[in-house]
Amino acid sequence: MSTTDALLQGEMLTPQTATRFATVFKQLIDIGVRFKLRDEIYVRRWEPERIRDHLVRDLSDEPTALPDIVEDILYSVLPLCKNENSPYFLGFGDTGDDPAALAGGLLGLFTQQNLINQSFDAPSATFVEIAVLRWLRQMIGYPDLPVPDVTCVWNVGGIITSGGTASNTVAMMLARENKAPGCMTSGVTDPEQFGVILPRGIGHYSVKSALTWIGCGSQVIEVDTTNFRYDLTALRKALRTNRGRVMTVVAYAGDSRYRTGLADPRRGRRIPIGRRAAPPAA
Ligand SMILES: Cc1ncc(COP(=O)(O)O)c(C=O)c1O
Repeated sequence: MSTTDALLQGEMLTPQTATRFATVFKQLIDIGVRFKLRDEIYVRRWEPERIRDHLVRDLSDEPTALPDIVEDILYSVLPLCKNENSPYFLGFGDTGDDPAALAGGLLGLFTQQNLINQSFDAPSATFVEIAVLRWLRQMIGYPDLPVPDVTCVWNVGGIITSGGTASNTVAMMLARENKAPGCMTSGVTDPEQFGVILPRGIGHYSVKSALTWIGCGSQVIEVDTTNFRYDLTALRKALRTNRGRVMTVVAYAGDSRYRTGLADPRRGRRIPIGRRAAPPAA
């Protein structure tokens, strides 16, 4: 019997199914834990075309039963997935092995607090988000209103984003508003003024995409770098040459691609990330 055979097609989580479902959910967590604990970064390493042909299928006329989907993920998808928690993966400092983050992910899924509004969708989660935003503001030295003065979302002063692309897009929107106050309501009238300086070869493509999404046009000005830092002479020159046409200079702090070393708390020593350890033969 497969892991999820106890989940019958069409059944929902009810008091009657809860015990059976909970057993299955625990088995799924075990699959996730085994994935993270596996030694290999990849169990299988295939050419992209082979992965494409293996996984990209037409929409089926028949529904696929949940146990089959789980089996498919387990045997077809997971062996090809990258495990950042492998001791051989040195690309990112965050290996996703923090139990608090994993617990948060699981509880977030089950509690499903939709932050769309405070009154009925997320009566407490809204204030949890506000509290976290205030911590983030404090960490970077922004002032916070006293708690009793926080009466609506407009005086919270931030949002939590889903990841890097969303963060860069919000950053570009705010830079645009800073450069042309009122632009959010009146619209972009003079796109020439919204140039963005990026470190050459380092700038993440999401910044360029964000500029096109927010109507600024893709006006990226690349400036040379030395050892992953802006060449300050080149930066000054770019600012002079483009005077009046730059809305922001993008800088990266702590991007794992550009660090020369990272601390590995599991081993308590520093690892040079430019030198990758060889994974064991799969
Ligand atoms: C500097 C930078 N910006 C944006 C992104 C994209 O992040 P996400 O995949 O969370 O949208 C990354 C991803 O590594 C990044 O390093």
